[in-house]
Amino acid sequence: MARESDISARRTSDHSDRAHLETVELVKQQMAAVLSERKRVEEAIRESEARVRAREELLKIFVKSVPAGVAMLDREMRYLQVSDRFCADYGVDGSQILGRSHYEVFPDLPDRWKEGHRRALAGETVRADEDRWDRKDGSLWVQWEIRPWKTAEGVQGGILIFVVDISRHKQMEAALRDTGRKLVESQEQERTRIGRELHDDISQRLAMLTVEVDDLDENFPASKSERKERLARIRQRLVDISSGVEALSQQLYSPHLELIGIAAAMRGFCRDFAAGRKVEIDFAADQITRTPSPDVSLCLLRVLQEALHNAAKHSRVRRFHVRLACSENGLDLQVSDQGAGFDFESAMKAGGLGLSSMRERVRLIHGTIAIDSKPLRGTTIRVRAPLAGIANEDGGLLSSPSAAL
Ligand SMILES: Nc1ncnc2c1ncn2[C@@H]1O[C@H](COP(=O)(O)OP(=O)(O)OP(=O)(O)O)[C@@H](O)[C@H]1O
Ligand SMILES: [Mg+2]
Repeated sequence: MARESDISARRTSDHSDRAHLETVELVKQQMAAVLSERKRVEEAIRESEARVRAREELLKIFVKSVPAGVAMLDREMRYLQVSDRFCADYGVDGSQILGRSHYEVFPDLPDRWKEGHRRALAGETVRADEDRWDRKDGSLWVQWEIRPWKTAEGVQGGILIFVVDISRHKQMEAALRDTGRKLVESQEQERTRIGRELHDDISQRLAMLTVEVDDLDENFPASKSERKERLARIRQRLVDISSGVEALSQQLYSPHLELIGIAAAMRGFCRDFAAGRKVEIDFAADQITRTPSPDVSLCLLRVLQEALHNAAKHSRVRRFHVRLACSENGLDLQVSDQGAGFDFESAMKAGGLGLSSMRERVRLIHGTIAIDSKPLRGTTIRVRAPLAGIANEDGGLLSSPSAAL
């Protein structure tokens, strides 16, 4: 019996040992499974973090090298990256501002932009085509866009700011508007001048003539010599009026140009100008063998007139040089003086019309113009004009009296 109970006790103990071992084995397996799952999750997290970093890094590389003003900021408006153009445009050092707050770097940002940042941080894309930024050292015109950027997981990482400095473009627009306004004004002045000259000079003289003819009619002289004398006076008045009208029309258009040719017209103008303005002009022209189209001739004559007017008005010297030469495909005109010279940028801002009108005329005939001047070094204007005129939209030539100054 005792043996039987021993056997039974051993059996029970064996059984519980096995159960214990099995439990231990099970726990081990579960722990291994948990550990492996944890490892898998950790790896997945690492991979995902690496993906996020890679995406962010890629975005940063893009932002740095994009040829536009771009800044990449985190959710707290701290710089993560800025483009080289952004640094150049706004005078900041890219390596110094990373990690710093946008508001610390630019404390003078307008409130409407801060509102734009808030909206973009809430997921919106906001933009302005033209916006003026008044800074302490002057105003800037910018075009901007603020948009959110997302991580690889689709979580908003912060915002991207795109800014384009359009100040120069705006200045040019304003200058163009100004030139347009001045052109209209100058046309009006010219009309007023012609109207005044017609009214005060020509029609006054015609009125006087009418009186004289009426008087002659009423008091017809008995003596032949007196009749002749009075008729000769009337004739002379008619001749004077006719030259007055011709002088006026010549200022508007040069009909001689096509008849006598560009070189002779220029020579004639230089002669009259020198006599009228008491200056000396050295004029030299090649033999012009091929006739330029009327619009090219008119353009060259107008450039010469304005260049000489400018030289007489601004150069403070009294001797000028004019040279008209044939080139392979057209004509070259050069007008120079050794006088005061000028700074081109400031001269263009000064508000005169002559230089811009010269450039516009030459552009219309597809020629080129170089205005070479330096303060105290004199001025040389060089125009290279093609022989042929330019066709307008109807296929005709752009040459008409209305194109004259
Ligand atoms: N030959 C020159 N020598 C010195 N300065 C010149 C000469 N030509 C032009 N300039 C300078 O350039 C400026 C601009 O010339 P521009 O012909 O456009 O205007 P303007 O002569 O002043 O006026 P406008 O031609 O409209 O009557 C002049 O005001 C002058 O300062
Ligand atoms: Mg001028």
